[in-house]
Amino acid sequence: MLPSLLAHPHVRLTAAADPNPEARARFEADFGGTTYATAEELCASPGIDAVYIASPHQFHAADVMTAARNGKHAIVEKPMALTVEECRAMTDSAESNGVVLVVGHSAGFNPTIKMIRELVASGEVGPLHMMTNLVYTSFLYRPRRPEELDTAQGGGIMFNQIPHQLDLIRVIHGGPLQSAYAVTGVWDKTRPTEGAMTALLQFTDGVAASLTYSGYDHFDTDEFHDWVSEGGVEKKPAYGKARRELRAFATPAEEARGRTASGFAGRGIAKPSGRMHHPHFGLLLVSCEKADLRPSPDGVLVYDDDGVHELIAPPARTYPNKDGVIDEFYDAIVSGEPPLHDGRWGIDTMAAAIALLQSARERRIIPLTNEERPHAYR
Ligand SMILES: NC(=O)c1ccc[n+]([C@@H]2O[C@H](COP(=O)([O-])OP(=O)(O)OC[C@H]3O[C@@H](n4cnc5c(N)ncnc54)[C@H](O)[C@@H]3O)[C@@H](O)[C@H]2O)c1
Repeated sequence: MLPSLLAHPHVRLTAAADPNPEARARFEADFGGTTYATAEELCASPGIDAVYIASPHQFHAADVMTAARNGKHAIVEKPMALTVEECRAMTDSAESNGVVLVVGHSAGFNPTIKMIRELVASGEVGPLHMMTNLVYTSFLYRPRRPEELDTAQGGGIMFNQIPHQLDLIRVIHGGPLQSAYAVTGVWDKTRPTEGAMTALLQFTDGVAASLTYSGYDHFDTDEFHDWVSEGGVEKKPAYGKARRELRAFATPAEEARGRTASGFAGRGIAKPSGRMHHPHFGLLLVSCEKADLRPSPDGVLVYDDDGVHELIAPPARTYPNKDGVIDEFYDAIVSGEPPLHDGRWGIDTMAAAIALLQSARERRIIPLTNEERPHAYR
């Protein structure tokens, strides 16, 4: 998020909180401003209007409520929290303190997804019938702390990656989900959390979405996206690289140290090389009556009766381009425009992710009856 925050015309980055002194020192050296060891101290500062919460997920609920109590607007990273109850408490806290809460960044903010949403909503490509999203990554083999490999503590793809897929389909469709069915895979006993899932979801109007994710670092769906990375830069194929690099760590403690070294405290912000494109989330096909749509590196491909053509999205300014979440947040604060990804939206996303986990465990379809807003979001 930092490159997008730094480049955004409506944002001034003034402070940060992190318990890790190395992260604080790097922030001060790279960006100036004040740093704090705790979220409480940061949120108590009168010089701050809004916070972006990217602490590990087990802290999201407490951090959002701390921000809200102190009158700070907040963007909270995905996953919003680990239980629906926590998500509700966060939303209630933001609403009762009169602050804006936006749940993101998630793939539904990507400019190409917004283009598809608008195209579908315009009716130009006929009614929406089906969505397919296929994502194969190295997710499970990036350096992790032990809790990130424990589902009960929010580890694995069900809390970390599936919310992106759910956000995509929900943004494009715009209405409530009705049911969820999933089969999950825990295929590596040394990393005992869900690393794969295939699922079928249905919206109340009958539209279906099939989602498949594998974080097992063998195939890579960027192959289907002209070798442009999820963040939006050109990359070279590197099948199995994350697995090979992980062999350098002899113990979980070494791996956890490697995790910190690979993050902001160790490396600072990402510096892209090569041409910048839009962020994406695997292969997505959106089937409407008159056309199939799919995000391309620079826009949206429309496959219709006349062949295929590409609609180009305005070019990305930063890598990775996360302007969408900042714009939605800013508009909500300044213009009072209700954000799409508010707390109630976030509750429904997490309810669906947790339902998919339950479905896989109980081998049955889970009805999604607790929708926060039983009407269309458009
Ligand atoms: N939207 C996306 O695509 C995306 C990508 C990566 C991470 N994330 C989310 O962002 C969050 C952070 O992920 P990460 O990979 O940077 O994790 P991380 O574990 O590296 O943590 C980020 C920072 O939080 C600090 N931290 C630890 N405890 C804290 C606390 N109590 N208060 C404040 N800071 C604390 C750490 O020292 C670290 O510098 C996660 O919830 C993750 O799911 C989202």
